[in-house]
Amino acid sequence: MTIPPASNARHLYLHIPYCAAKCPYCDFNSIAGREDEFESYVDALLEEVGRLPVGPYETVFIGGGTPTILGPQALERLLAGIRDHIHLAANYEWTCEANPGSSDAERFALLAEHGVNRISLGVQAVQDHHLRFLGRVHDLDQARGALALAKQAVPRVSADLIIGLPGQTRSELAATIAFIGEHELEHASVYHLAIEAGTEFHARYQRGELQVLDQDTSRDLLEQAWSGLAALGLEQYETSNFARPGAECRHNLAYWRQRDYQAAGCGAVSTLAGQRMTREKHPGRYIAAIQAGGDAAWQVEALTQVELIEECWMLGLRLADGVDLAALQALGDASERWHETAVVLARQGLIQYDGSRLALSPEGRAVQDAVTVALMPG
Ligand SMILES: C[S@@+](CC[C@H](N)C(=O)[O-])C[C@H]1O[C@@H](n2cnc3c(N)ncnc32)[C@H](O)[C@@H]1O
Ligand code: SF4
Repeated sequence: MTIPPASNARHLYLHIPYCAAKCPYCDFNSIAGREDEFESYVDALLEEVGRLPVGPYETVFIGGGTPTILGPQALERLLAGIRDHIHLAANYEWTCEANPGSSDAERFALLAEHGVNRISLGVQAVQDHHLRFLGRVHDLDQARGALALAKQAVPRVSADLIIGLPGQTRSELAATIAFIGEHELEHASVYHLAIEAGTEFHARYQRGELQVLDQDTSRDLLEQAWSGLAALGLEQYETSNFARPGAECRHNLAYWRQRDYQAAGCGAVSTLAGQRMTREKHPGRYIAAIQAGGDAAWQVEALTQVELIEECWMLGLRLADGVDLAALQALGDASERWHETAVVLARQGLIQYDGSRLALSPEGRAVQDAVTVALMPG
């Protein structure tokens, strides 16, 4: 058993790895067709949660996979078990991810009853032909219905969308943005399709059976999305995340700001006082390890100073607020190393740099990777 370092982490991530079907683009730790395992997985997860410090936690995030795929009984047992063990801070945020294909009033009512106050729904696209291409188990009508149910059940709702789909037109993207406006969403996560190694899309791409958009078209669509969302009052507070001021996902902000966080579940990663622990990814092996009294640790690493500095740059530059230069200094990356580069980038209009924070400008956001590489330790 790994002894976790002392930490008063205020954030907790819980992973549910199951989905109704594996989407061909997805490299998340998720698996389909294991309904037989749900009960023993909930047992194992609750066992692990029971060993965690009781909190209080400011944010909790149940992600996946698709947490709502658990039937109402298993879901209720999970939520009640979590509540029995952990304390929630006043003004806490508790998010649960959901898929429109496994969303109904009963499940959402259970979430709300047990204290979940934010639902993040995987809408992905608003044209049925794109949803079919993405291998989704839901259609647009189901997405609309699930959003309406989510809004009735909890005060805060977000939608995940994937753009940059092969053949996607500007008018289709305009419809996507209009959809967010029509549903008066306070938060949206908008990702560009990534072809991830190990996925079905990757295999099709390598066989020449999947055409991706050229860079200019991708850039054009991203910029259309960013300005369309801004026009709706949704600010880009992180590379792929947009919110009305005050509606940002506090859980993910804590992660991007390198706060300590606890975790439980297969493949889940906790970071406590510089020690990062990744749990056994395979759900069956995770269950077996926990049942045997172990901690299911797959990898435990002490983050080095250089790794912490690199993460400070990479995560900070994703944020509209930018890199917290006092935090960077505290990690030991003195401004003498990067100051000259920053002055040049500021002169080129790619960053804003004011002595306490260093953030990408809108022009810099378009070349985020290059700016990040230029500023990070070599
Ligand atoms: C764990 S899933 C969200 C909940 C649920 N599993 C679902 O898909 O409805 C996380 C999100 O990451 C995004 N995502 C996953 N793989 C992606 C990829 N290859 N390219 C772009 N976005 C991706 C999707 O928007 C997805 O909703
Ligand atoms: S995108 Fe969501 S529903 Fe699809 S396989 Fe990944 S985790 Fe499951």
